[in-house]
Amino acid sequence: MKKGIGLKSADIRLVAVTEANRVLVAALGLAPEQMNFVASNAESLEEAETDGDAQPRVIVAGDRVVGFLMYEAPRDNDEARIYRFMIDRASQGRGYGKAALREVLDEIKRLGHVGHVSICYEPDNEAARNLYRSAGFVEEGLDEDGEMIADLALAARTDEP
Ligand SMILES: CC(C)(COP(=O)(O)OP(=O)(O)OC[C@H]1O[C@@H](n2cnc3c(N)ncnc32)[C@H](O)[C@@H]1OP(=O)(O)O)[C@@H](O)C(=O)NCCC(=O)NCCS
Repeated sequence: MKKGIGLKSADIRLVAVTEANRVLVAALGLAPEQMNFVASNAESLEEAETDGDAQPRVIVAGDRVVGFLMYEAPRDNDEARIYRFMIDRASQGRGYGKAALREVLDEIKRLGHVGHVSICYEPDNEAARNLYRSAGFVEEGLDEDGEMIADLALAARTDEP
C-alpha cells in the first residue's frame, strides 16, 4: 500500500467509524485559529451515537486517518446537510478536503432521494468558502447565528455549461 505524502486524491476514502479508528479520529487536531470553525471530533462522535440521522465518516488517505465529516440525509427530506468537516492540521493543503468533499457528495447522490445539499461555515473561514465554492455551492446568506449558509443543487450540476 502507498504511504504518506505523494498520495493522489483518488486514494481518499470515506469509511465508517469503528472501535479501532475512533481513537484516531478523536486525536485529529486543528490549528488554534481554526478551533472555533467546527466542533471537536470527540463531541461529534458522542453526538452521533444518540442521533439516528447522523452519518459520521472517517476520511482515510491510503492507510492514514486524516479527517472526519458528518452529514444527515433523512429519507423524508430532499435536503442533505453536511455539518461537520475537518482535515487534520498536519494533512491540510494537499487536496484531501477537496477529494473527501467529492466522495461525500457522490455518496449523498447515490442515496437517490436528495435534491440539494446545504453546508454552513463561519463567514471568515476562507478555506471553507473556497473549497465549497469550487464544488459548486452557492452562498445564500447568514443564518440567525451569523453563520454563512451555502447550497448545492445536485440535479442542476449536470446542467451547468
Ligand atoms: C477547510 C478544510 C476542510 C480544507 O481541507 P484541505 O484538505 O486543507 O483542503 P484542500 O487541500 O483539499 O484544498 C481545497 C480547496 O480549499 C481551499 N483552501 C484550502 N486551504 C485554504 C487556505 N488556507 N486558504 C484559502 N483557501 C484554502 C482552496 O480553494 C483549495 O483549492 P485549490 O488548492 O485548488 O485552491 C481544512 O482547512 C480544515 O479542516 N479547516 C478547519 C476546519 C474547518 O474549517 N472546517 C470547515 C467547517 S464548515
